[in-house]
Amino acid sequence: MRGKLVVGNWKMNGGRAANATLLGELVAGWQTMAGRQIAVCVPYPYLAQASAALASSRIAWGAQDVSEHAPGAYTGEVSAGMIAEFGCRYAIVGHSERRQYFGETDAVVAAKARAALAAGLTPIACVGETLAEREARATVAVVMRQLDAILATVGTDAAKLVVAYEPVWAIGTGRTASPEEAQAVHATLRARLANAGAADVLLLYGGSVKADNAKALFAMADIDGGLIGGASLKSTEFLAIART
Ligand code: PGA
Repeated sequence: MRGKLVVGNWKMNGGRAANATLLGELVAGWQTMAGRQIAVCVPYPYLAQASAALASSRIAWGAQDVSEHAPGAYTGEVSAGMIAEFGCRYAIVGHSERRQYFGETDAVVAAKARAALAAGLTPIACVGETLAEREARATVAVVMRQLDAILATVGTDAAKLVVAYEPVWAIGTGRTASPEEAQAVHATLRARLANAGAADVLLLYGGSVKADNAKALFAMADIDGGLIGGASLKSTEFLAIART
């Protein structure tokens, strides 16, 4: 049986004092329930702080990106091995903000997923369509193209992925896909993953998930939890989502 996973994506937010408060509240507030897992993906400079604060808890941590390159002359990049040394379990790859603002292509995202896997990290591979693509009825074509690039690159490691469906029009907008809209895309992703021998991959939904809409989303057959942006910066809201 697949468990449930709720991951906080802090994005480029935080500060040492605020992080200490938030991480402390998460540790105090999180009771592990059977099959439930939570994690926070923090900016690189805070990985050491997250690892120190969370090491004795059941909360996992991770990075929001990873270089596709092996260590070497890549100024500003952070390798998967470096991230792994901080005890990270996860690395988000292909978040739509990386694709949109930093020009990450499907090929780059796939290479990042492969680099993360090679370092023993679990990539949280993001896929999702823009509003224009949805209106052009291209949702399935877009998310399949994004997923297939990753599957072609990771091969038999597909079962080690986590995949997040995040419609770009729902991220940070307060507009969320309806549970049925999200489920329809998740079912398609699940079918493709099953074909790749990875039917049990955790499929997260992301995009304006809040405590008051999480329940209906997570009740869907192929939605195994969430990737939470804005709402992961408040412990009460994030914990409420995780307990859903
Ligand atoms: P949001 O972000 O929850 O703030 O919409 C989700 C994400 O980008 O992962």
